[in-house]
Amino acid sequence: MWWVRKLLWQHCSQLSELSEHLGYAGDYRQQPEFMENAKRLFSFFGYEPNSFVGKTILDVGAGSKLKTKYFVGARIFALEPLADRFLAELAWSDLGDAERVYSQPVEVQIGGLRQNVDFVVCINVLDHVYSPEKALHNIYSYLKPDGEFFLSVDLHNVTHVGHPIRLTKSFVKDMLEHAGFKIIREHESLPYAEAYGEGRAYTVICRR
Ligand SMILES: C[S@@+](CC[C@H](N)C(=O)[O-])C[C@H]1O[C@@H](n2cnc3c(N)ncnc32)[C@H](O)[C@@H]1O
Repeated sequence: MWWVRKLLWQHCSQLSELSEHLGYAGDYRQQPEFMENAKRLFSFFGYEPNSFVGKTILDVGAGSKLKTKYFVGARIFALEPLADRFLAELAWSDLGDAERVYSQPVEVQIGGLRQNVDFVVCINVLDHVYSPEKALHNIYSYLKPDGEFFLSVDLHNVTHVGHPIRLTKSFVKDMLEHAGFKIIREHESLPYAEAYGEGRAYTVICRR
């Protein structure tokens, strides 16, 4: 039941996530390696810094530091449920550099984003949410008709407070197709590691 998952997400998972960004996950984001890996990731998948000049990018589950700042000349919108806390509590967070910041979970539909986005990026987030189905449904609705979706996750069979959702390749693909996406490319592993955290990284590039 998604509302039970939402309560656990709100009162357990997100508090654990916040403490990680106040601790080791924040330490990593303050190292040059964080943006170097973001650069390696996007260039590995064929994106150049100027791939979205003049376009709108939505960074879903952006975290406390924007990987999407790799892209130059784009309007960057950040959707991050802990955004208000990150901005208040982490002096080094650059979320404020986004043109718009939505401090909301992706499951909450934001009317102003509908068919307004050229490129959605969602990295290492889908196993953190309380309803991956609603997440993908909303992301689909935000894309312009020719929009592109970059989804990168860790596949794993375990769930715990930090990763309440179990992700398998077939589950991810079924959900994407059910939401309406057409899968263009898929890839396992990352250019610099096997996974973001636990399991094995899996990246899917889709079109609306
Ligand atoms: C592991 S971090 C990844 C952050 C960022 N994408 C990156 O790669 O650095 C997972 C992020 O997902 C966010 N998140 C968790 N549940 C979410 C939800 N329901 N909607 C949007 N973001 C969510 C968390 O707050 C956290 O910032």
